[in-house]
Amino acid sequence: MKNAIGSRVDLNNRDIEYTSEFLSYIEDLLEHSYVKKLKRVDQHKGTTRFQHCINVSYYSYRIALVIGADPQKSARAGLLHDLFWYDWHCKKTPQLHAYFHPRLALKNARKITSLSFEEEDAIINHMWPLSFGFPKTRVSYAVTFADKYSAALEVGYNWGSFFGRKLSGILWNH
Ligand SMILES: [Fe+2]
Ligand SMILES: [Fe+2]
Repeated sequence: MKNAIGSRVDLNNRDIEYTSEFLSYIEDLLEHSYVKKLKRVDQHKGTTRFQHCINVSYYSYRIALVIGADPQKSARAGLLHDLFWYDWHCKKTPQLHAYFHPRLALKNARKITSLSFEEEDAIINHMWPLSFGFPKTRVSYAVTFADKYSAALEVGYNWGSFFGRKLSGILWNH
């Protein structure tokens, strides 16, 4: 883990502003096998679900500091919001994936840590407005916006590197 996609903050350097506080909130979860297993799952074609969850955790934390949400709960809910291991790009993806996977993530998250009401609501409603409920707390808003921001960055990053490779191939070969 080096940094959240789109951020230049090196998460291995605890001297950097934000980094040590952010890591102190999530380091117990990072050691758990449930979270480590996310490294083997693809999230946005080229970004692992582990990296996606780091991105959402970090941006949730930063957004929380701005909007006055609890930064620790935001960082933890962000890390756990997609805690499931099936590949949603494949044919066996459950029907109503947008409805189903937050509930599965919550069920898995409850097995590895105790969760506050804010954290549970943030996980369940992170797909808002595609969720079947509204975010009820500031933590939930931090996570749902961080999720969309991260997804956009990940897709942009992967397309950018895809077209970058194509372009450099064309320039190199001609
Ligand atoms: Fe999700
Ligand atoms: Fe997500």
